[in-house]
Amino acid sequence: MRFDIISCQPDLLESPFSHSILKRAQTKDLVEVHIHDLRKYAINKHGQIDDYAFGGGAGMVMMIEPIDKCLSELKAQREYDAVIYMTPDGETLNQNIANQFSLLQNVIILCGHYKGVDERVRQQFVTHEISIGDYVLSGGELGAAVLADAIIRIIPGVLNDESSALTDSFQDGLLAPPVYTRPAEYKGLKVPDILLSGDGPKIDEWRFEQAIERTRLRRPDLLKDTDF
Ligand code: ADE
Repeated sequence: MRFDIISCQPDLLESPFSHSILKRAQTKDLVEVHIHDLRKYAINKHGQIDDYAFGGGAGMVMMIEPIDKCLSELKAQREYDAVIYMTPDGETLNQNIANQFSLLQNVIILCGHYKGVDERVRQQFVTHEISIGDYVLSGGELGAAVLADAIIRIIPGVLNDESSALTDSFQDGLLAPPVYTRPAEYKGLKVPDILLSGDGPKIDEWRFEQAIERTRLRRPDLLKDTDF
């Protein structure tokens, strides 16, 4: 899968893709991430990519021309399945959305800044608008990194243990059950006996019950349309 991320703060995107699972996905050639500095497409030699809002008001608006130029250059090279705009008024990201995006081949992510982009960009070029939560960030870069991470880790082959992404919270509509590791007892705090029993089916059953219980307590909204 290929990601082209368009940003006017490209430095903010360096670190998230240079470590751990996201780095390994690229090393294994399962994912390509290309970061594009929007200032390269500025309308003048001063690097201008934004301007005051028509009608007045505080905050700058990202102009359509630099974005159009950058998108046109990318689209001339390959077909894209989605142009995603990161914005607090987009659809709130969840596991289902990440799963759907993970099936795509070529994706552009556009990061907004300041007051956002000229509305015509959204009307003409953007196919999906995604928010990572009901709060406002300084720009779309951190949201883009969150979105890309959620997508990349479920691409087959990215995680070493294939089943691990499938047992994540939300993957079966439930929160994940509690996990423990050695030692079996620490300062009197014991691991539940069932997990030390070696009885696979019983352990699966326990985990399932714990997942339901945890979801009931912390996120009852997730159980609304289920039989649990
Ligand atoms: N840009 C600013 N706030 C954002 C949010 N909550 N989600 C995605 N992009 C954003």
